[in-house]
Amino acid sequence: MNNKNIPLDERIILALDVSEPDAAKEWVRKTEGKIKFYKVGLQLFLAGWFDVVDWIIDRGHKVMVDLKFFDIPETVRLAMMQLQDRGVSFATVHGNDPIIRASLAARSGNDSALKILAVTVLTSFGEEDMRAMGLTGSIEDLVYFRAKRALELGCDGVVSSGLEAARLRQGLGDKLLIVTPGIRPGANVDDGSDDQTRIMTARKAIANGADYVVVGRPITRAADPLSVIAGLQEEIGAALQVL
Ligand code: C5P
Repeated sequence: MNNKNIPLDERIILALDVSEPDAAKEWVRKTEGKIKFYKVGLQLFLAGWFDVVDWIIDRGHKVMVDLKFFDIPETVRLAMMQLQDRGVSFATVHGNDPIIRASLAARSGNDSALKILAVTVLTSFGEEDMRAMGLTGSIEDLVYFRAKRALELGCDGVVSSGLEAARLRQGLGDKLLIVTPGIRPGANVDDGSDDQTRIMTARKAIANGADYVVVGRPITRAADPLSVIAGLQEEIGAALQVL
């Protein structure tokens, strides 16, 4: 059973991958009746800095700041301090044990409202990318290994594709938050249309144990974004009923 009583309107984290704060605000205004969780990544953060994050939070929504911190531990700790105590719900870190430990040290306590998620293996990353980096094992094993370490170190959760979510949920228990990008409605295989590789439908990702799905382009590039959101929420609702 993996139902953390997360409301349906928080299950989809809409990736605001736009170049201007005004465009992000337009997306929030357009979708906020249906969605209450937004992701600010590198592009928008560089354009809108904390002003855009604060604006979304002030409207009563949750924000995932996805900057995937990766640097020497002390730099990561100091960067994470900047996100502490300002109403951000999720932040992401990418790296080995000392980097993850440093990011956790930035929090005021284990019950901090800021949840720290470790990036396991990017969802754009495929087996051939593993080989190109000289890694010999499977992506699934690497994701599991990194997620287990992250949990042991005290991370609240991980970012991982839906393909690995089932194994993570089974092996690592219910407490771990699993946040899954690479959602492609109607597709369980990569059709090569964009940079995402380890993709899955929202229904399958949630059925596999994901708590949240991060969705960007399938919504922002749709002719009718609100109906895509409605369809995704229907899928998520159906998957949760079976759990
Ligand atoms: O547009 P799309 O639905 O592919 O957006 C996915 C979002 O999730 C992007 O903002 C990307 O940065 C983010 N993400 C990801 N894979 C990760 C972590 C975050 O695709 N491992």
